[in-house]
Amino acid sequence: MSRAFIIAANWKMNKGPHEAEVFFEEFLKGTERFENYLFFISDINLHVAQKYLPQNNIGWGAQNIYFEEEGAFTGETSAKALSEFGATHVLIGHSERRQIFNESDEWVSQKVKVAQQFALTPVICVGETWPERQAGETQKIIIKQLKASLQRADLSQKIIVAYEPVWAIGTGQVASVEQAVEAHKTLRQALNQLKPDLGEITSILYGGSVKPENAKELSDPKDIDGFLVGGASLSPQGLAGIYDNSSF
Ligand code: PGA
Repeated sequence: MSRAFIIAANWKMNKGPHEAEVFFEEFLKGTERFENYLFFISDINLHVAQKYLPQNNIGWGAQNIYFEEEGAFTGETSAKALSEFGATHVLIGHSERRQIFNESDEWVSQKVKVAQQFALTPVICVGETWPERQAGETQKIIIKQLKASLQRADLSQKIIVAYEPVWAIGTGQVASVEQAVEAHKTLRQALNQLKPDLGEITSILYGGSVKPENAKELSDPKDIDGFLVGGASLSPQGLAGIYDNSSF
């Protein structure tokens, strides 16, 4: 079963609306093949995504949502509002959310549920820390995160999973192809245990210091279905370079 190859940009808390406009003006001139891209950008820039991306069939959304539908939750964004605004996807459970903002698997699972209720495709992030890898706990940790994150999910709807070893994010220390493939195979098996064939139809992205220079070798294995890209996605050249060097 062929799975979509996806290159997802995670801009994190970078760029203002003007910089976002400049990026999309340049990026959209550079290629006509857009169907493989997704953009996760901060809420203050979502109107720029709304202006540029739908007519190019590019998926886009927020880097986080709150799990309640609406109410007195100062500072939060709802799946309902995001969906009404036209977003197609949402990033959930990124390690920076888990570590800096203490997001638990329980919260992640509630966010996945509300995202699906409002027709947003969740991109669910899992990944081990360096001490966890050194302790030989990688498989255990990522299976636990994945299963807990999906405990309220409707598995008949599309989901995307991103394997992002925490030690590889923003560090320049990319996982080896073997490490990434092993994790992706583990996640695929865990998905198959939750629902027959779910692992075969679900795109699993790798994230953590992906750049144009390492995109080829990381995209070669059939178990790696694309990338979640932070730093290198901030320039049109970086993002397009990853696309151009990927084999899919
Ligand atoms: P990075 O970030 O590409 O800068 O390592 C990836 C991510 O956090 O999604």
